[in-house]
Amino acid sequence: MTRKKKKERGVNLITIERKSKQASEQFRTIRSNINFASINKELKSLVITSPHSGDGKTMTATNLAIVFSQEGKKVLLVDADMRKPTIHHMFRLMNNNGLSNYLVGQQDINSIINPTYLTDLDIVTSGIIPPNPSELLGSIQMEKFMTSVKERYDIIIFDTPPVLVVTDSTLLANLCDGVLLVIRAKKSEISDVKKAKEQLKYAGANLLGAILNGKKLPQDSYYYIKG
Ligand SMILES: Nc1ncnc2c1ncn2[C@@H]1O[C@H](COP(=O)(O)OP(=O)(O)O)[C@@H](O)[C@H]1O
Ligand SMILES: [Mg+2]
Repeated sequence: MTRKKKKERGVNLITIERKSKQASEQFRTIRSNINFASINKELKSLVITSPHSGDGKTMTATNLAIVFSQEGKKVLLVDADMRKPTIHHMFRLMNNNGLSNYLVGQQDINSIINPTYLTDLDIVTSGIIPPNPSELLGSIQMEKFMTSVKERYDIIIFDTPPVLVVTDSTLLANLCDGVLLVIRAKKSEISDVKKAKEQLKYAGANLLGAILNGKKLPQDSYYYIKG
């Protein structure tokens, strides 16, 4: 692997590559906070989003999916970022048969689910990039997808595009049990975080909390957003 490629993979699969004990521990803490939050309300489908691109949504969605599978839960990770999909790269999968292909009726559910080298983790890649991702995510077919995967998995994690750029994650948040907002330390502007939070709340999303990505902290980096 070239030096550039190594750098690109960077922190991506920290929870299985065991490069950072602290980061892996923080993902386990987030997992247990979600488990606690699901005592009174089912939290089976989760949307991971953030104000902008590059905040760490994909890195967070992937590592959360891995730590839930390490706990023995049956997990489905879905690349619902049909604009800049990257999960297929991280797991070295083909992306010619994914969510978009299912949503337009080209494929059935079984043919878009990919097993991974991790026993309890399956993946649905984004599929061929469509011209109308928002329309597809807001379709009846998407509701059918949710019903079908909820029957098969303990937890479904959706990686999505940025909230402040397109409506996709807001649409999806509306169909899911909870949303986590990723905030990138030293990059995300407070005003943008507030705007993202308001947009999600306005759409009726159940905002569970925020994940502060990229800051070394003495404790964990999971915060509840009040209000
Ligand atoms: N805490 C971090 N420290 C260093 N690099 C990070 C961190 N979080 C994410 N990255 C890197 O930043 C880039 C963007 O992250 P990504 O998860 O793809 O963001 P998004 O999905 O929000 O666009 C990736 O190359 C990723 O490896
Ligand atoms: Mg991404």
